[in-house]
Amino acid sequence: MSTHEQTVVRLEEYRPSAYCIDTVDLDVCLHPTSTYVKAVLSIRRAQGTPAGTPLTLDGDGLQLERLQLDGHDLSEDDFSATPSALSLLHPPFEPFRLEIETRINPDANSTLMGLYRSSGTYCTQCEAEGFRRITYFLDRPDVLTVYTTRIEAELEEASVLLGNGNLKESGLLPGTGRHFAVWHDPHPKPAYLFALVAGNLACVKDSFTTASGRNVELGIYVEPGKEDMCAWAMDSLKRSMTWDEQTFGLEYDLDVFNIVAVSDFNMGAMENKGLNIFNDKYVLADPETATDQDYAHVEAVIAHEYFHNWTGNRITCRDWFQLCLKEGLTVFRDQEFSSDMRSRPVKRIADVRLLKSHQFPEDAGPLAHPVRPRAYREINNFYTATVYEKGAEVVRMLKTLLGETDFRKGMDLYIRRHDGDAATIEQFLDCFAEVSGRDLTQFSLWYDQSGTPRVEVNLVHDAENGTASLTLTQSLAPTPGQDSKQPMLIPVRFGFLGNNGEDLDLSPRETHQASGDVLLLSQRSQTFTFDGVSNRPVLSLLRGFSAPVNLSASQSPADLLFQLRHDSDPFNRWQAAQDLATRELMRLYAGLRQDQATAVDTALVTAFGEVLCNTALDPAFRAQVLNLPGEADLAREIGKDLEPVAILTARRMLRSAIGRAHAEVFAAEAEALGRRSFTPSAADAGERALKGLCLGYLAVSDRDDREEIVTRHAREADNMTDRLAALTVLVHEQMAGAPDALASFERRHGGHALAMDKWFTVQATNPADTALTQIDALTRHPAFDWSNPNRVRALIGAFSTGNQSQFTRADGAGFVFLRDVVERLDQRNPQLAARLVSAFRSWQALEPVRAGLAEGVLTRIAGSAILSTDTRDIVERCLA
Ligand code: TRP
Ligand code: ZN
Repeated sequence: MSTHEQTVVRLEEYRPSAYCIDTVDLDVCLHPTSTYVKAVLSIRRAQGTPAGTPLTLDGDGLQLERLQLDGHDLSEDDFSATPSALSLLHPPFEPFRLEIETRINPDANSTLMGLYRSSGTYCTQCEAEGFRRITYFLDRPDVLTVYTTRIEAELEEASVLLGNGNLKESGLLPGTGRHFAVWHDPHPKPAYLFALVAGNLACVKDSFTTASGRNVELGIYVEPGKEDMCAWAMDSLKRSMTWDEQTFGLEYDLDVFNIVAVSDFNMGAMENKGLNIFNDKYVLADPETATDQDYAHVEAVIAHEYFHNWTGNRITCRDWFQLCLKEGLTVFRDQEFSSDMRSRPVKRIADVRLLKSHQFPEDAGPLAHPVRPRAYREINNFYTATVYEKGAEVVRMLKTLLGETDFRKGMDLYIRRHDGDAATIEQFLDCFAEVSGRDLTQFSLWYDQSGTPRVEVNLVHDAENGTASLTLTQSLAPTPGQDSKQPMLIPVRFGFLGNNGEDLDLSPRETHQASGDVLLLSQRSQTFTFDGVSNRPVLSLLRGFSAPVNLSASQSPADLLFQLRHDSDPFNRWQAAQDLATRELMRLYAGLRQDQATAVDTALVTAFGEVLCNTALDPAFRAQVLNLPGEADLAREIGKDLEPVAILTARRMLRSAIGRAHAEVFAAEAEALGRRSFTPSAADAGERALKGLCLGYLAVSDRDDREEIVTRHAREADNMTDRLAALTVLVHEQMAGAPDALASFERRHGGHALAMDKWFTVQATNPADTALTQIDALTRHPAFDWSNPNRVRALIGAFSTGNQSQFTRADGAGFVFLRDVVERLDQRNPQLAARLVSAFRSWQALEPVRAGLAEGVLTRIAGSAILSTDTRDIVERCLA
């Protein structure tokens, strides 16, 4: 096997930069294939840098046209320039001015990093290391610079010119057909937050007055004709601005805040200072083309990027190992925002579902890494569920441990102390340690140890003495690069339910091992003793999912049913239903694997019926409870020797038993729910969620009119949520009405790319045997486009991550299909290819035949002569 040398970057090798760049004046003359960039840098030695220390600026695929130092050309012995570096071999002792001219080709840039064009609009993406594709620079987050950007373009081609900060000047260049704008950003920032946009865009304007009375002009820029789809994003932005003032006392700090929606984007959105650039799917929304989920995502992503202005921009990261410092914290903040805008319990359930279905598998496989990694070969591959979602859980645990007041004090101190800094996780934690007087040393292991801890539970009730002793035991399996693990500090929120379901007021004898209703599990094994417990109580553990751990199920089915009916913690009511269903599904799965007929447990079916009919419960919450654990959740629970078709079948058996038992109620509810005309409110969305769920169960019931009902819903829907829910049921249950409904959807939405993405996804996630042939044909559909990441993810990504039984087909065709796609996309867009290939990450858990096929495909990709560092990094870690 050939070995491919790749540089590994290590946390322990961090050194401060030897040089600072105080200001940069950029002059960018835009042209589709030949854009001229002149950068004037004011550079000085950092304190303590010895005289004569060479200076190396980063570059990526750059061509140097001209270089001057303090107005003079440099001799050949004084510098060296390659596409990836510009070195000054003898830099002056005193501060100096470096003028660098480069020429770049936006149209040839298919990676979507650096300067590129999306539907004709010039835009940039500089995180993590894209700025070096524009000009030579110290492209590292701890070099903070004040930027002035002059943009010049053909007026015909780009009537709107946007940059970071405030607009200083703009106008027409006489007699040229060209115009220009000068933007100045007074806040020193790292290069990854630089952005510019130029194009013929329409603008939706609004304004916001901050708490201290500053007026901020808000603008959302979109393709002309899409102005009507910006109202929800604008509303979300204003609510985010108010929320951050009220919740954290954080105000916006520039005169303008602009958002631009582009259709070609590798990720969700980007928090460039004063000029956020968005994947258009997280800006555009109207009832006709966006689902309730889309509305919720737009709200969350707008908030997320806005919140980065403080947690990310004003305080940035010292190095990329600290990525979770901004991402984990900002995800936590956007989750809290959405919880305040919507139902807190439902939001928590949705977040935990995402965590368990994406982050837990990552942490259990070959791609596992700590929230703060120690080494990387390609930083783009570390924008992961672990850094984002588990990173947010760690901040949430900090809040749980410290309580509301001290948490806020810690945040205030962090902002006050580190405003303008490029900070570290240690500095962040120090603020919370200081305000609370706590030692957070053990807690900080959450940033360093990868893998999901397991917590075993053992409760012994002694009726004679009236005591209950609860023993919790934690363990953490070895993960890549980490053989031995330390016990963590795990906050376990708890409650006990009495005979009538009421909360018992119990606290452990070991008072220092608890804080309020939170047990502090810090040793490998710990026993908590509760007095005054005469009757056997029912335990409610890990309320609100107070820590990202796997709790070893210890409850009897009767206790779980009791919790489902009575627990005052809504999260644990949901969790009880999930646990009951998981156990039942695993039993059915085991039966299928052994060719034994197994009947579905009626107690579970009855309990689900009770929840369905319990109108005291919020419809959104009922929908979450009735939504069975997904195939990925079951795969995670089973853990090894997986046969994905049996998982699919087990799920279908249980769904069908529930559907048949309560067919009348499902039919009635499907008619009664969500009849008001569309508003995106959480309450209305909840009704539509429950309605969609009812249709799904109805479809697998034995009612004769089930096809007719679902078909009618697909036809009569007056919003995307309802239409897509019905279409999904028709297609995934292979109902007779499916082809017509697909055709009618296509007629209706053929011209709208984001709506067509849903049409691609429905077919990509169809568990039928014919799916792969269909998907292959869809890659040739006129609405499909290999160069657009949203299209590729909607069809290919949805297949490989959302259609487990077909992706892992026993004939290997699913794996081979993904391999072909990855090889096709790898040179064009390495980030996208690397993300797609990550779908292989759980291959070792498959039964031997499928695992062997996956390994063979991965090995073949790894053997490719030309492969991006992005894809190679993922593939080699998967095989390691
Ligand atoms: N910082 C962005 C966010 O959290 C993430 C991001 C957007 C990104 N585009 C990227 C990361 C490109 C890497 C590459 O919202
Ligand atoms: Zn972010």
